[in-house]
Amino acid sequence: MPRLKIIGGNTLSGTISISGAKNSAVALLPAALLSKTKSTIFKVPKIRDIEYLLKILDVLNCKCKIDKDMIEIDTSNLKNAPIPEELSEQMRASYYFMGTLLARFKKVEISFPGGCHIGARPIDLHIKGFEALGAKVEIIKNKYIITADELIGTRIYLDFASVGATINLMLAAAGAKGQTIIENAAREPEIVNVASFLISMGCNITGAGTSTIVIDGNDNLDNGVTEVFPDRIEASTYVILGALIGKDLHIKGIIKDHIEAVIIKLKDVGADFIVKNGEIIISKCEHPKATNVTTQVFPGFPTDVQQTFTVLLTQAEGTSTITETIYESRFVSAGLLNEMGAKTDANGNLLTIEGPTNLEGKELYIPDLRGGAALVLAGLIAKGETILDNIPLLLRGYEDIVEKLTAVGANLEIIE
Ligand code: EPZ
Repeated sequence: MPRLKIIGGNTLSGTISISGAKNSAVALLPAALLSKTKSTIFKVPKIRDIEYLLKILDVLNCKCKIDKDMIEIDTSNLKNAPIPEELSEQMRASYYFMGTLLARFKKVEISFPGGCHIGARPIDLHIKGFEALGAKVEIIKNKYIITADELIGTRIYLDFASVGATINLMLAAAGAKGQTIIENAAREPEIVNVASFLISMGCNITGAGTSTIVIDGNDNLDNGVTEVFPDRIEASTYVILGALIGKDLHIKGIIKDHIEAVIIKLKDVGADFIVKNGEIIISKCEHPKATNVTTQVFPGFPTDVQQTFTVLLTQAEGTSTITETIYESRFVSAGLLNEMGAKTDANGNLLTIEGPTNLEGKELYIPDLRGGAALVLAGLIAKGETILDNIPLLLRGYEDIVEKLTAVGANLEIIE
């Protein structure tokens, strides 16, 4: 099994370019099925989740042409077929095929989706929304069978502003008769990215990015074209790394509004950086100050950044806290940081961090995608050697992470 070997302590300088957002791209590929003949998506990141989604598109008889980061998807011979378990369980985003296959064929057979073990992660809001549109949802063993004579537009209120449910119901609503209004919708940039893709196909959608989205069903969508937004979570990961051990580290190709909450928190701890023309230039924050963070839905502090931000707080002087309001068990990596010398204490959804602490390299097992990124950051500032196991989990969401980090002076390599 490949492992990542990191020798900590190198100061990092130079430029890291941000790739297309995993959490947009994994929704855009399934969304392409709404196009009758073809769609084109630019700036698709080369990550494992995309490889698996391409395999699912193949099962559905789509023909994909890849040219660097552009993917052209020919859906003219699209055929409905059950989505096999060995593919759907590879990631949570496979559930977006529910919304699109329901829109196109009014029938979906898909095994339970996978995803990082950071909580129960039910999909009850998706199911409730599909049923509100007129679908029947059955669970047979570990498969969802969803059918509908037809989908009728309606008003759907989401009990929680779920990113996945918002996107999945927008996809299904595009195939419904009449208008659908999604209330308490998630406002994450991924929703705007998918909505702009559907609008390019001819779908009338308003309000994406706000809490109320209005979708007019349309069964003549075609010729979708879009560009994947820059990955705000990847960008936040590398900006935090710059605050830990950078010297004029340039993080290029960001959309500032998408990481505003992270920028505000970095200012809270005293980080010193410049934001200009889609770039952040940041150097090590010598004496970070303790602060308190609460994760929220967008535009609040993103839950996907709390594990990497924890590494910065291990270097802050004083007692910091993180309150995780989105998932019920997303502090596993904080416990692993303790094995490197950090002082964190998890109590329910509250994590307390005492700092500053000196971190020592260790051999550790990556528990989930963003926890893995946190362990990479910790290894890069720790004394000595860190070996991380379960690397495929990290490569799921960070395009060329080894190449990007070695290019700015990090000492890390993949070993067998
Ligand atoms: C997306 O997951 C992201 N994944 C997650 O990123 C991210 O943490 C999350 O949004 C929040 O921003 C992808 O986009 C592929 P949710 P999603 O539906 O859609 C509960 C990463 O590291 N919930 O907003 O699954 C759920 O259990 C990943 O890139 C229900 O209870 O997130 C969770 O506690 C991790 N019922 C909370 O809401 C539902 O029907 C947030 O879920 C749906 C969700």
